[in-house]
Amino acid sequence: MLIALSFVQARRALAARRSGRSRVALSLDLGLSVVEVEMDEAGLILPGGAHVTWARLEEVAAAESSCFRVEADGGIRKIQTFSPLTQRHYSLYPTAGAPAMLVSGLPMHRIKDTEPQRDALSKIRAAGLSQGGAEWRVLDTCTGLGYTAIEAAKTAGEVVTIELDPAAQEIARQNPWSWRLFAAANIRQIIGDSAEVIAQFEAASFARIIHDPPTFALAGDLYSSAFYHEMWRVLRLGGRVFHYIGDLDSKSGNRVARGVVERLQQAGFARVLPRNEAFGVVAIKE
Ligand SMILES: C[S@@+](CC[C@H](N)C(=O)[O-])C[C@H]1O[C@@H](n2cnc3c(N)ncnc32)[C@H](O)[C@@H]1O
Repeated sequence: MLIALSFVQARRALAARRSGRSRVALSLDLGLSVVEVEMDEAGLILPGGAHVTWARLEEVAAAESSCFRVEADGGIRKIQTFSPLTQRHYSLYPTAGAPAMLVSGLPMHRIKDTEPQRDALSKIRAAGLSQGGAEWRVLDTCTGLGYTAIEAAKTAGEVVTIELDPAAQEIARQNPWSWRLFAAANIRQIIGDSAEVIAQFEAASFARIIHDPPTFALAGDLYSSAFYHEMWRVLRLGGRVFHYIGDLDSKSGNRVARGVVERLQQAGFARVLPRNEAFGVVAIKE
């Protein structure tokens, strides 16, 4: 059983201890669910018998930017890794809802005024996937923690999701909120570069594309004319792309959006509509 904790749960357990209680209602999966956990002089007694000492919980409580995996022996490990492929550092970052992923310290999910799960839902709505159909195939170009793939898979027949870096997948495997990415029968995961993998798909084979790339500075290829032409090719008539960009009302978001819209139109998407609430644009293949 995967047990993960952040400062939120550690502080809750420490407060329960201070008030002299012997049990505490606690989430062991970063806020997804809550269970009753016993405590004694030494620390928390977790399901399965692992003991996490109070000293270790103090450590977790002090680390506001990290999530920790609890080992079978009660040891704690930061959920983080270094990627030999991209030479970047990946880690899981706690929020009030689903955790975010940091790549070299940069959040890959929206965490200001929202949280990653709500952010994923707004992308799904913008892509018109809330009323998807069992015959729909969806392409999710950037897996990350799998939140958009997981939500898309709730209505679509099949979701194909691509992740460049095995390190990101390694983080997702340790994230309780990502479990469906590995369990859903209708999610197909591919490790590779979307800019290359997309060429392998048949023309008009997807009903929707969710394009949620890192920033332009980190992944310029995924903002290129060549990539947009490929998205147009693999999308069926009437299909849509949701392209995440960033806050369209900010100076930098607006600047990137202007280039994105121009290149999407050149690639054949006659209609490109801003979706400010989802921090991106929708491009329709008519
Ligand atoms: C913004 S996150 C995606 C978040 C994701 N939609 C979710 O719901 O968790 C971007 C992800 O794209 C990955 N990535 C970067 N370049 C890529 C590429 N060329 N092809 C596929 N994935 C890429 C990054 O490693 C990162 O995990």
